[in-house]
Amino acid sequence: SKTLKIAVVPGDGIGVEVMPYGVRCLQAVAQKFNLSLEFEHFNFASCDYYEKHGDMMPADWKEKLSKFDAIYFGAVGMPDQVPDNVSLWGSLLKFRREFDQYINLRPCRLMPGVKSPLAGRKPGDIDFWIVRENTEGEYSSVGGTMFEGTERETVIQETIMTRVGVDRVLRYAFDLAASRPRKKLTSATKSNGISITMPYWDSRVREMHKQFPDVAVEQYHIDILTAHFVQRPDSFDVVVGSNLFGDILSDLGPACTGTIGIAPSGNINPSGEFPSLFEPVHGSAPDIFGKGIANPVGMIWAGQMMLHHFGFTEAAAAMLSAIENVLARADLEIMTADMGGRGNTQSLGEAVEKEILATKTD
Ligand code: NAD
Ligand code: IPM
Ligand code: MN
Repeated sequence: SKTLKIAVVPGDGIGVEVMPYGVRCLQAVAQKFNLSLEFEHFNFASCDYYEKHGDMMPADWKEKLSKFDAIYFGAVGMPDQVPDNVSLWGSLLKFRREFDQYINLRPCRLMPGVKSPLAGRKPGDIDFWIVRENTEGEYSSVGGTMFEGTERETVIQETIMTRVGVDRVLRYAFDLAASRPRKKLTSATKSNGISITMPYWDSRVREMHKQFPDVAVEQYHIDILTAHFVQRPDSFDVVVGSNLFGDILSDLGPACTGTIGIAPSGNINPSGEFPSLFEPVHGSAPDIFGKGIANPVGMIWAGQMMLHHFGFTEAAAAMLSAIENVLARADLEIMTADMGGRGNTQSLGEAVEKEILATKTD
């Protein structure tokens, strides 16, 4: 079978701590299923690199990374070292935009053995996907400062929605919803207050819906939608939103399933012209960095999404089962503190690796 070429970019903070377990789990599953995975490590896209070189990445970063099928990414950001907007626009946001990874796909699933902070929710109750627009919207570099330093100081930052950009993420979300048993799509906007871009998004949803008559569509303003995430998370199937709304919902959703420490994401360039990027949803967590207690499951699950994306479905299914089996045991000596355990990155990461190696294959 084909060799999957993977650029490993750990980044900053706990990204560096969880990455080794992600790679070990991928190596374990590759061994079990005879996959050919090739890893190459890069130390750029980190604040340490910035301090040495005055930039987050070398000038030829795009050439270097274009050779890979995928980027396996940890997290970036050390706000005490480098301002967050500098480190993120100099790395992750560049990857998303220049590699046209216009889909950010984030599962939201209550796993066995993980306690939801919401009363009465059991595994199976919460199981939906967030499809986040990933290259435009509120994350734009159009704007600026006027009358700086005066009383009239004014800052402007525009939201940009293009027809191509909105339609392609909606089409992806409709396709995903159509492929699922419930065939339900929820769109997040704020068309009462944000009176130009958000109604535009709604109108494109109505237009795209004509091509997917079997999909049931609902639309909510983002404010009440956050309330519904907490009060009836069981009602969602596929949720689609703009760059900022998708960002917010994809921390809230995983928090409703116990911890953001287990949540993965795929930054996908569907055409395959450029590498796609797989990373945990969480950031570099400077508050726990250096303690070795970060939950490695988000990183490992992101590796699982990567294998699934490239069609290694059997290996991906085994990897997901291994994660589920380990969490289901709810062994507090192994689980990390964000899930109420007394274990650490190593105990949980190695437990998943061991579980993968114990997979029965024929
Ligand atoms: P964060 O996700 O890093 O941390 C939020 C909270 O969740 C912290 O209390 C942290 O300890 C906890 N947490 C996160 N991941 C965890 C894990 N795996 N196990 C246990 N606990 C975990 O978000 P933040 O504090 O807003 O951001 C910190 C830095 O990370 C900033 O520089 C920010 O810009 C950056 N960031 C980067 C990414 C990314 O690279 N994709 C994502 C989010 C934030
Ligand atoms: C995420 C992160 C990033 C985002 C930040 C670090 C720029 O929060 O991947 O969810 O907002 O997209
Ligand atoms: Mn986020």
